[in-house]
Amino acid sequence: MILKACIFDLDGVIVNTAKYHFLAWKKLADQLGVNFTHAFNERLKGVSRMESLETILKSGDIILDEQEKEELAAKKNNWFVKYLNNMSVNETLPGVVSFLDDIEHNHIRKAIGSASKNAGLAIRKIGLEDRFDLIIDGTMVSRAKPDPEVFLKAASGLGLPPAQCLVFEDARAGIQAAHNGEMKCVGVGNPDILGEADVVIDSFSNINWTTILTLLNSK
Ligand code: BG6
Ligand code: MG
Repeated sequence: MILKACIFDLDGVIVNTAKYHFLAWKKLADQLGVNFTHAFNERLKGVSRMESLETILKSGDIILDEQEKEELAAKKNNWFVKYLNNMSVNETLPGVVSFLDDIEHNHIRKAIGSASKNAGLAIRKIGLEDRFDLIIDGTMVSRAKPDPEVFLKAASGLGLPPAQCLVFEDARAGIQAAHNGEMKCVGVGNPDILGEADVVIDSFSNINWTTILTLLNSK
């Protein structure tokens, strides 16, 4: 099947916001007295705000009512949005812009498929909002990754069958979502964590479309 589009996760793939999600969740976990490590944070990557909170509460055996949960989620989000507002264009991840240029040159379409309700703000902060044909974010889906909803919506918005779309992800839940939607997936990050992806790159530095096709075909 010939690939005609790339669907990119946003946080941790296009922009360096994964660290801000980590910092904001850690601040909340510390206040709740819940031990919060980088390894634990891997379970929250790609997952919706409320599901992330539930995972933290469960780990600390903390039981709260819905209103208390809403308040904690809002608290975390306020911290995260403060980080976003202070972010500069320099926080676009290395190699991303030249990779977007290269796939455009190869007539490959581009979409964002993100669980974040702040995706619009993040992409505007780095000035890349006009580089994508379509942005599907957390305000447009009701099922969190590993459910494939966000990627299937992106594929159908582009008018393409899933098999013609290639997903880029930095989260295990996201790789599983791509595969659940019958899409191939490139992991961006640590191969020890992202081993379920079809191929893994450590970043977009020195990566172009030909490299990606070569890696996929050598599998
Ligand atoms: C994902 C992040 O992109 O969006 C998660 O990987 C985050 O860490 C999720 O929890 C939801 O984001 P937001 O901005 O709606 O809280
Ligand atoms: Mg991500």
